[in-house]
Amino acid sequence: MEPFIAGPDSYFVLENVGVHSALFAFAAPRASVFHIRVASRTGHEIRISTTEYNFLGRIQVDGLEQGSEYTAQCLAGSSSLSSLAFKTLELPSPGPCYRFAVIADPHISVDRENRRGRLFTESRGLLRETLERLADERYGAVFVLGDITDSGSVEEVEQSIKILSSYPGRMFLIPGDHDCGDKRGNVQTGDPVSRLFPDELSFLRTWNGPWGTFNVLGLDTASGDLSDDQLEILKDGLSKRDFLIILSHHNLIRNPDLLDEDSCIRNHREATGILANAKGAWIIYCGHKNVPRKLSFAKGCQLNVSQLSHYPAGFLSVEVCGGSLLHQFVPIRSEALRSYSLRMLSRDWSPSFEPMYRYGSLEARSFILSFEDAAGGVL
Ligand SMILES: [Fe+2]
Repeated sequence: MEPFIAGPDSYFVLENVGVHSALFAFAAPRASVFHIRVASRTGHEIRISTTEYNFLGRIQVDGLEQGSEYTAQCLAGSSSLSSLAFKTLELPSPGPCYRFAVIADPHISVDRENRRGRLFTESRGLLRETLERLADERYGAVFVLGDITDSGSVEEVEQSIKILSSYPGRMFLIPGDHDCGDKRGNVQTGDPVSRLFPDELSFLRTWNGPWGTFNVLGLDTASGDLSDDQLEILKDGLSKRDFLIILSHHNLIRNPDLLDEDSCIRNHREATGILANAKGAWIIYCGHKNVPRKLSFAKGCQLNVSQLSHYPAGFLSVEVCGGSLLHQFVPIRSEALRSYSLRMLSRDWSPSFEPMYRYGSLEARSFILSFEDAAGGVL
């Protein structure tokens, strides 16, 4: 699957692929009615069109066969924009599913201008809208991966608390470097960090859902290091055969697909050694460098999650189905805002802001992690 991003005015990409569905986003330089044609090798074919003339849009195709290979073609009017190939996921044990969501780096800001494609002026609305959606759709919990604020200022913290407290479900928060108030020349007054994180900054908690119990380990990597105490907590959490969900702002394992040197904690070798010896399965959800990327390692995997307010702009929806976690990237509602962020990325000229790099990989946007096999059964 090769996403097609010629520029902010011309793209055709897969946002996610499910067991029976695929979500496409597209844009063309001229206002058009868009047509998507999806066909399998066995002759199964679906065609869907938009109804209005637009420069951009999204279409979800349902009714696909699981574990099947497809080609998809996008036409803007009568002109072919691009085509791509993909394979739907296979769910080993379908049944009742329950969901949780992962939100990375909302960067709540009170700035009046957007910067380098980051949607500061829309940041509060995007988080509010996303939490409303998660509540309406009855997600069981939300994990927030730090950089909740952009500068850690008192005003941003107040705004963040107001929005986050509106969510009625269970929420797990960890801090990021931007929450510590040393970014972009802002100076804290009072103690906003402790207001935003009234409980411990790192924790090992159990979360009881309708499916059973998960252990959730939250880490404080805001400083760019994992303290000795936290290395011990990590070792402790991974010494059991139970599946472990780990939340970390920075990556714990170096991922060569990420360009920035500071994507990872400085003492990543120690953390990687502990993860290599884990008794059970685990997954790490990471923020900070918000390029969707997945790194499989030993009995687990490390996932970098997109932020809401910067292209590709969305959150991660995770369905618990039997012994599997079905991960799906969900873009924010407005394709126009995402296209604006992409337009600004295209003007930045730095390699880590290159649009195709920021797209990440489809593998990190849509995958199934079977945790029962590696963990020896936890549910
Ligand atoms: Fe960060």
